[in-house]
Amino acid sequence: MSTEELYSGREQTLVKHYILEKYIERFAHIIGSFCQTITYVDCFAGPWNVYSPNLDDSSFSIALRQLREAKATYADLGRTLKLRCFFLEKDRDAFDKLQRFAATVQDAEILCRNCELEAAIDEILQFVNAGGRGSFPFIFIDPTGWSGFGMDRIGPLLKLNPGEVLINLMTGHIRRFIESPDEHTQDSFKALFGSADFQQTVAGLSGIHRDDALIEAYAANVRKTGGFNYVCSAIVLHPEKDRTHFHLIYATRDPKGVEVFKQAEKKAMSVMEAARADAQQRKRQTKSGQTELFGSDALHHPGYYESLREHYTSRVHDRVLLLLQGQKRIAYDDIWDSTLTEPLVWESDLKEWIKEWITKGEVRIEGREPKERTPKREHGHYLVWQ
Ligand SMILES: C[S@@+](CC[C@H](N)C(=O)[O-])C[C@H]1O[C@@H](n2cnc3c(N)ncnc32)[C@H](O)[C@@H]1O
Repeated sequence: MSTEELYSGREQTLVKHYILEKYIERFAHIIGSFCQTITYVDCFAGPWNVYSPNLDDSSFSIALRQLREAKATYADLGRTLKLRCFFLEKDRDAFDKLQRFAATVQDAEILCRNCELEAAIDEILQFVNAGGRGSFPFIFIDPTGWSGFGMDRIGPLLKLNPGEVLINLMTGHIRRFIESPDEHTQDSFKALFGSADFQQTVAGLSGIHRDDALIEAYAANVRKTGGFNYVCSAIVLHPEKDRTHFHLIYATRDPKGVEVFKQAEKKAMSVMEAARADAQQRKRQTKSGQTELFGSDALHHPGYYESLREHYTSRVHDRVLLLLQGQKRIAYDDIWDSTLTEPLVWESDLKEWIKEWITKGEVRIEGREPKERTPKREHGHYLVWQ
């Protein structure tokens, strides 16, 4: 089946799987260069709404393919990269399919469990710890709603060090219910965020500002709970509507992880806009009963996506400018840190702004070799406001 067929009508899953695939591809190669083992944990494994009879379009299959690629790369170099996976799924039918898939895998140690995540935390920790000191865990949390992964309950998974986490936060659902007066709903949000602080954070806000506040509050709690240095978020838009479907929240302790995640996010945004163009054309054609003369990309209006990009790039641009004007001299690494944790902002944007400020004579770069045209991370470069 083609990618279009596998993801038709669920293009948001294509974007999620694309980011997961691109990230794990690089992650596994990088981690394999200094660790003997990768322990991959899919806490809401599915399979769920898959079209492929081989489950090729499930997150666990996609991740395992990439982990195997890295294993093959290191095997060619005469090294063994051990793969270990913990796949968790609460639905019995889905679990049976998951288990049948796992039974076909010979080159990785796989443990499948049929229960809810919050009841399996100790067992996941035992499995991760059994990987030994040379093992690096990656935790993927991909729920259907906002319950079942309360911050306090997943805290021990976030604290795994070394370790990284990718969480799908269902912004679209959360946005609709966040101000519900229902006590049970409010308790479920307190569990999700790990405190009631989010209520003050979002009070009086609407639209994108409310989404931003929600994500920032959640990201701050992930960062604090896990002791992470960086938490980034990527926006995944609804295929047919101009609104955010969910955010992928990625947490790491290493700037290299941020670099790789941001590259995956940047590439995924082109994939997302192309898939949204197809989905929106399909919807128009179904409604009108007529086939359009031009291709979906020619007819697509990326205005909403572009307005979001403008929102985040101008926000970060102004923040960096204020920092520079206030502190006068800042390490490029520090500016990079505060820029790249925002969605839809990339290092290429930062370098473009710096080029403009240099052209205007407002900024100079300190610590740069004569042949280095732009500042680089981990090179001792400073930006000086003049
Ligand atoms: C969004 S789907 C996962 C999709 C999958 N990660 C993928 O991308 O291919 C969520 C899955 O988690 C399962 N699930 C729901 N609540 C759960 C819980 N509390 N613990 C474990 N699994 C759960 C559902 O049955 C469903 O299969």
